[in-house]
Amino acid sequence: MNSSDIREKFLKFFESRGHKVVPSSSLVPEGDASVLFTTAGLQQFKPYYIGAKDPVADFGMKNTVSVQKSVRTSDIEEVGDERHLTFFEMLGNFSFGGYWKKEAIEYAHEFVTKIMNLKIDYVTVFEGEDNVPEDMESAEIWRSIDPSIVIKKFGRGDNFWGPTGEEGPCGPTTEIYVNGIEIWNIVFNEFYSDKAKKLTKLEKPGVDTGMGLERLTMVSQNVPTVFDTDLFTPILPVAESRMVADHVRSAVFMIADGVRPSNTERGYILRRLIRRAYFANKNLVPVIDAVIAKYSGVYSFSSDTHQVIKEEAEKFEKTLESGLKQLDKESDPFKLFATYGLPFDVIKEKFPSLTHEEFEARFKEHQDISRAGMEQKFKGGLAGHSEAEVKYHTATHLLHQALHDVLGSDVGQKGSNITTERLRFDFSFPRKLTEEEKIRVEEIVNEKITQALPVRHSVLHKEEALKSGARHSFDEKYPSEVSVYYIGSDLDNAYSKEFCGGPHVENTRVLGKFKITKEEAVSAGVRRIKATLE
Ligand code: ALA
Repeated sequence: MNSSDIREKFLKFFESRGHKVVPSSSLVPEGDASVLFTTAGLQQFKPYYIGAKDPVADFGMKNTVSVQKSVRTSDIEEVGDERHLTFFEMLGNFSFGGYWKKEAIEYAHEFVTKIMNLKIDYVTVFEGEDNVPEDMESAEIWRSIDPSIVIKKFGRGDNFWGPTGEEGPCGPTTEIYVNGIEIWNIVFNEFYSDKAKKLTKLEKPGVDTGMGLERLTMVSQNVPTVFDTDLFTPILPVAESRMVADHVRSAVFMIADGVRPSNTERGYILRRLIRRAYFANKNLVPVIDAVIAKYSGVYSFSSDTHQVIKEEAEKFEKTLESGLKQLDKESDPFKLFATYGLPFDVIKEKFPSLTHEEFEARFKEHQDISRAGMEQKFKGGLAGHSEAEVKYHTATHLLHQALHDVLGSDVGQKGSNITTERLRFDFSFPRKLTEEEKIRVEEIVNEKITQALPVRHSVLHKEEALKSGARHSFDEKYPSEVSVYYIGSDLDNAYSKEFCGGPHVENTRVLGKFKITKEEAVSAGVRRIKATLE
């Protein structure tokens, strides 16, 4: 089925079942400073779940349906694989105190199996965790619809959604898998999570569902990747790579909603998307044209689109011109950034093992030298750590050491990335971790957290630092003086020691509960762990 047919069929299906069709809201969320971009269909409806707005007054009914433009950039490094996109459209049906689990699940089942003619592999439901009980009702409903359906149960990492941003509605989910791919997430918004992550029951529970149009089109068209669907086939030949196709598509949609390249927040993300795309493909005009042609029947775009991208590319060209001259001469990746203005992605091509974290660490070390200029460059980028990110940074050190304890010395750090919601750690290891190993790693990290260990650092001569046994990257050239962060009361007996510029928490006790949410392969011999703190 063609992507336009899918959009239309989805809206019609729910419209004929008592839902008001509501147009997509802007990618720039209104009145919610806690998120940079609209990341899901529920964003524009947040006030209706908490009773701050009345759906009947605004829509004439308690249920809505939409196709929502969405941007998620926390996994920008994963773009180019089969499923991750920075921009996507989300099909969603919503109820604010109207229907509940039975209808939501029945609608989803009917749409997937009857309208889309897809075969459901299995569904998942919430297994209960942290005082939120197991969702037996949803499992019952699934069984009553199809007694042979396979039901899997998972905890908070998989089957609990929200809030978007710092606070908002959230709750347990039930998810539908087709061809091994999650296509539909049905969230039962029973709770409100406040800034301290405390859950309180919502007065009227609501339903929030999300189904990525790109993924649904992919399984419907039975093609191996989202880039093989009709949404991308006209764009890919001119883009020449998936990354360029994805980034230009996002950029065009961001510009349509008024975002302009800058050094802060949304503008910085847009800048980074345009620069990455332009670095890979200097001829972006046909890519922009292909995106606009593909979507012009559904969305409207800015008449400035070409101009904005062209101007940004020109600015970047100037920076590149002077900076690239230094790339071969300069062996210090940080200097290429700080002094010559080359972007991280370009520098990484010359120093493949460079991670954002190391880069950020170097930034911290140098910040006293030229604070003002640097802060400008980093605003909204690598620096500006929130409390959550600092916690994840310390948790990453604990995880790194715990992996050594459990898996032995084969483990070597390959990359690390932190958002306000999770840490991601890539490391060399030849196989999948067993369940026992994962549990053991979690136990060790949580043990170190409960032991309330101090986190300190010393500035040492490089030789001394190496002698202390502190972990470091073998590919990086370090200056003669380095900063070593250690977790424990003294350097000699510390549990973890690493070459690092910080920042870290002062004591592990503030970290909360550490939980591994995912363990997977990134490439041959490299594993990836994602983990959260609660
Ligand atoms: N808001 C839910 C999601 O994004 C449906 O998955």
